[in-house]
Amino acid sequence: MDENIKKILWAGVQAPSGDNSQPWKFKVKDNAILILNLPEKDNPIFNFRGRGTLVAHGALIENMVIAASSLGYRSKVDVFPDKEDPGVTAKVIFEKDYPRHEQLYGAISERATNRKVYMDKSFTPQQRNRITGSVKGEGKLILIEDALKKAIIGKATAVNEIVMLENRQLHDYFFGDIRWTSKDELEKKSGLYLETMELTPPQKAVFKVLSYWPAARALNSLGIAKFIARENSKVYSSGSAMGAITVPDNDEAFVGVGRLMERIWLEATDMNLSMHLITGVIYLMQGILGGESRYFSDKHISIIKEAYEDIRTALGVENETIAMLFRIGYGDKPSARSSRLEPVILN
Ligand SMILES: Cc1cc2nc3c(=O)[nH]c(=O)nc-3n(C[C@H](O)[C@H](O)[C@H](O)COP(=O)(O)O)c2cc1C
Repeated sequence: MDENIKKILWAGVQAPSGDNSQPWKFKVKDNAILILNLPEKDNPIFNFRGRGTLVAHGALIENMVIAASSLGYRSKVDVFPDKEDPGVTAKVIFEKDYPRHEQLYGAISERATNRKVYMDKSFTPQQRNRITGSVKGEGKLILIEDALKKAIIGKATAVNEIVMLENRQLHDYFFGDIRWTSKDELEKKSGLYLETMELTPPQKAVFKVLSYWPAARALNSLGIAKFIARENSKVYSSGSAMGAITVPDNDEAFVGVGRLMERIWLEATDMNLSMHLITGVIYLMQGILGGESRYFSDKHISIIKEAYEDIRTALGVENETIAMLFRIGYGDKPSARSSRLEPVILN
């Protein structure tokens, strides 16, 4: 296969995906790449209508377009090219052009989720301009730098941990995705690598115990889920800003969200800023709004709704869908990185 197509695919699959599920496969036809959708690889409770997968595909497309441009190709992106087949998220056609200097190309392999506590330090005006300048019409970006609002959003997003530790199905999906050792991580090259979670040694020990449902259930009755949520909310509200992307409520818009999110992340990486997506509550709420509340107890539905309402109010959002939520700021280097599988190319 053409070396440049290989390089473009490699750049593409460096994209983030829910629990590093890498829910994609490809077909290569002459000068085009088809991106095929594997939503079943993602956690189904968070991945309402496969929208988390579409966000990951958006990020993948953005990486491919940047890589192609620096290799001398103009990209034409056709989202859902076959209206009858939702399994094909996009067709990207590459046309020969001249190579351009793409400032963000180097950031594609540098970018990583950073789950550490970030510093209490504001953006410079230039940083703020570069982040807000990433928006090219795919959605609306909201940046919250006010400390009180960040704390409200941080607390509300941590409600995810309460539900995740108390709900058997979510608990089992989540812990099933954990890669506990570097050997496991390097063998599977997907899933959530423990060392990227930035836990202290005692936290790791508790985490291991919690992975057994009977232990989690017993400790939940002593309030451990709420304690963990309180601790995590401090991490989540740390940083220079909370960011949110809002869009109209349709599937295609989520691909655009992924492209915009990735551009922001690459800009941040290029400026030595860290980023961390915190989507649990907003995606659980998507499911509840879409009538998929069968997984949850009434108590959990009510705390998810309350948390979403707090997030919505702090962001000042009216009717649009909150499709992405993240924090961004100054952080020390992440302790570990996630691996990637070789891209699978179908004939
Ligand atoms: C749609 C989507 C939702 C995500 N939600 C979260 C989240 O709520 N919390 C989190 O820590 N990481 C979240 N992530 C980040 C992934 O876990 C991460 O990208 C993946 O493990 C690969 O690691 P990397 O970003 O370092 O390459 C999300 C990623 C995507 C694409």
